[in-house]
Amino acid sequence: MNTKVWKVDKYVDNLENNPQVVDAAHFLQENEVVALPTETVYGLGGNAKSDVAVEKIFAAKGRPSDNPLIIHIADKKQINAFVTDIPEKAELLMEKFWPGPLTIIFKKKAGVLSNKATAGLDTVAVRMPDHPVALALLKKCQLPIAAPSANSSGKPSPTNAQHVIDDLDGKIAGVLDGGATGVGVESTVVDCTEEIPVILRPGGVTKEQLEMVIGDVHLDAALSDETSKPKAPGMKYQHYAPNAPLYLVNGSQSFLQHVIEEKRNAGLRVGVLATEESVGDYTSDVVIACGKRSELETVAAALYETLRAFNQEKVDVIFSEMFPSTGVGHAIMNRLQKAAGNKMIIE
Ligand code: TXA
Ligand code: MG
Repeated sequence: MNTKVWKVDKYVDNLENNPQVVDAAHFLQENEVVALPTETVYGLGGNAKSDVAVEKIFAAKGRPSDNPLIIHIADKKQINAFVTDIPEKAELLMEKFWPGPLTIIFKKKAGVLSNKATAGLDTVAVRMPDHPVALALLKKCQLPIAAPSANSSGKPSPTNAQHVIDDLDGKIAGVLDGGATGVGVESTVVDCTEEIPVILRPGGVTKEQLEMVIGDVHLDAALSDETSKPKAPGMKYQHYAPNAPLYLVNGSQSFLQHVIEEKRNAGLRVGVLATEESVGDYTSDVVIACGKRSELETVAAALYETLRAFNQEKVDVIFSEMFPSTGVGHAIMNRLQKAAGNKMIIE
């Protein structure tokens, strides 16, 4: 299949009638799959009502079929068609954080969406992305769009159109290239089917921000205890992994330098994930600054691109600094731990 690339300037007016967006929307209506920019990462979109379209998403990514997709909408009213009810706390969260990097889980109304999109569950995950190109596309096609991150299953999520091409060229109908995404890590997934909502995946909206709006919010036990079964099926898989093994290093800079030297002495090409503050402090084959430690949002924005860059550099092993698990740091550490398969070296 020839994968089209539609370049769109996200700042132009009347995006809904932009010829590129119109063409991409047409492909979605024909049950083809199209990658689209969102404020978090690129998504791989398909008609959420169509088994055919949803099957194409799973096939292109090589995604396990038990892992449900997030349904993307452009207008809150759309959800009435496929959820049974909207709890008050969900209503408050939608009001405050949509459009934005928050996915809310509702009880699903049967018979509207493809059962494959929700992996046969009786709940459905929904979000309204905060990106002008995504919103224009969603409005134009007038469909609820199922969209996982547009990477090959297991790889780091794509934060620009080139990452999508690197993973999925020839496997999807096209990519709407709206430039680099902003947040850089995926949306927060919060289950609002419980009296006290539960965060299943930390992301762009922090626990602290949610609690300001609805009071107590719980964290899924699996986020801190590896032996618990995660309530979001996708959280049980290793994810975001670069080609070389990645280790988190819990200790001082001099300890990390010592770890680097040990591997270099053994003849390995060593990569280091550092920050702008520390990049000059290490001696290694490849040292990459992944944003600024003093502004964790910049670390989130650069994280997946940095993990992909180590593949280009063909390193044999990667060591990463750790980050505080507060605010967006919670999502950064969650993704790094998954990328590392929980491998950690402690001083
Ligand atoms: O920022 C994002 O959320 C991006 C952009 C493209 O919107 N999408 C994304 O989708 O990260 P994906 O498929 O890579 O991750 C969706 C996560 C998975 O962990 C999945 O298991 C979980 O949400 N999920 C989806 N529906 C669910 C449900 N009904 N119950 C529990 N977890 C669900
Ligand atoms: Mg994903």
